[in-house]
Amino acid sequence: MATTDHLVIFDTTLRDGEQSPGATMNKAEKLRIAKALEKLRVDVIEAGFAIASQGDFDAIKSIAESVRGSTICSLARALDKDIDRAAEAVRPAESGRIHTFIATSPIHMQHKLQMQPEQVVEQAVKAVKRARNHVDDVEFSCEDAGRSELDFLCRIIEAAIDAGARTINIPDTVGYAIPEQFGETIHQLLNRIPNADKAIFSVHCHNDLGLAVANSVAAITNGARQVECTINGLGERAGNAALEEIVMAVRTRQDLFNIDTRIDTQHIVPASRLVSTITGFPVQPNKAIVGANAFAHESGIHQDGVLKHRETYEIMRAQDVGWHTNSLVLGKHSGRNAFRTRLLELGIKFETESELNEAFTRFKALADLKHEIFDEDLQAIASDTRQKEEEGPYDLVCMQVCSETGVIPRATLTMTVEDKEHTVEAEGSGPVDATFKAIESLVDSGCNLQLYSVNAITSGTDAQGEVTVRLERGGRIVNGVGSDTDIIIASAKAYIEALNLITRGGKRQHPQIADV
Ligand code: KIV
Ligand code: ZN
Repeated sequence: MATTDHLVIFDTTLRDGEQSPGATMNKAEKLRIAKALEKLRVDVIEAGFAIASQGDFDAIKSIAESVRGSTICSLARALDKDIDRAAEAVRPAESGRIHTFIATSPIHMQHKLQMQPEQVVEQAVKAVKRARNHVDDVEFSCEDAGRSELDFLCRIIEAAIDAGARTINIPDTVGYAIPEQFGETIHQLLNRIPNADKAIFSVHCHNDLGLAVANSVAAITNGARQVECTINGLGERAGNAALEEIVMAVRTRQDLFNIDTRIDTQHIVPASRLVSTITGFPVQPNKAIVGANAFAHESGIHQDGVLKHRETYEIMRAQDVGWHTNSLVLGKHSGRNAFRTRLLELGIKFETESELNEAFTRFKALADLKHEIFDEDLQAIASDTRQKEEEGPYDLVCMQVCSETGVIPRATLTMTVEDKEHTVEAEGSGPVDATFKAIESLVDSGCNLQLYSVNAITSGTDAQGEVTVRLERGGRIVNGVGSDTDIIIASAKAYIEALNLITRGGKRQHPQIADV
């Protein structure tokens, strides 16, 4: 196998992660996540699927223009038009990669592609050669490799390497693999494919059986030298292997792995928070590495042990993955310049002066209420501040909610629809229910509320609450996120954002459903 002195981390939060229902991100949000990945020193950032939409293309291109130190990659089906579009999107990158794929399992070839195996090999070779005409760095994936026949995998991979693929990716697309068996598959491929030494072997595991990280680790043990993963394990269905878990498993057990990643682990928790804020996918408290309880010791015996000697119950140091780095950055008296500078340091750049002004006004209002403003608060302000034209027809002007023991809660809201003001009111079982009913009495969206969740952005009772509202209409799912020190106002903002997202939603191709 081609050599590498470190385990290559290929992050696909912005592509596979974005395929999670409701996790759609706009260009500015993708850029912020890409900047966080750059800080983490991720080797490859899969920034999107260029042919999917103009929005995806623009986001990849702007990431390629502004990120340095990481290779920028676009996904492309094994089709000329996809490959050419991917090439155009990654062209400005310091180092660009085209990642092309075709399905190789009997079930996918027969029912999805309706192609014979030899036609699939032919198309794969053609795609790799075309991609190599654009860039040196070409990755080829055998979609649904986890359910593909080993002999066929050997055949198509040998042909793809001969055609110029430098990285060969073995995806467990449907999360079907079991660690020992998946590790053995990697071992067999590396030993049976005659030109395996000319490429780096990679894995891409989905978490349908909760085994994505275990399968990835088994693959590393058997010689895989690139792992595809996402922050917080975001991704299609049950998600992908979590970057933070793989990186920390390898780092913590250096006694077992004779290879390490280049990841700067101190940026893990901030990156996790950022992805959670932008997508509206909360991180469960007991999630490894980045969950709020990951380093909390509840039982008296554990606390006593940790105080006497940390390593009695802790295998990693919280600060090594970026916990406790909440820094007090700005306060009530901070000026516009300090505000702008800190935002830039966080990778947040508003496209217009009026957006920056709006964000600054929000910051001042928050500083009056809260006094201490943390990076997480700034991230939330930035997420809340969107360009008007991106926002869609609805906006919240003001609201009043009555919540009193023994009295039916009632909400009164003033909202704009296409800049025209309306005041609406409704009663509900609680203040949030009354608020959503008041909004619906005007909008009548026909959406189903699939999820409502509240999280505190920082600690303390004066913290901002971050609310996620997931709405579904006609099979389309969106997540709206709103933040405010008042969680009822945050709820209204989140609901309105979700309505705007569902209203303006453009058409976007899905890489694995679209026909070849
Ligand atoms: O899961 C999968 O097979 C993929 C490929 C496109 C790499 O995401
Ligand atoms: Zn995938």
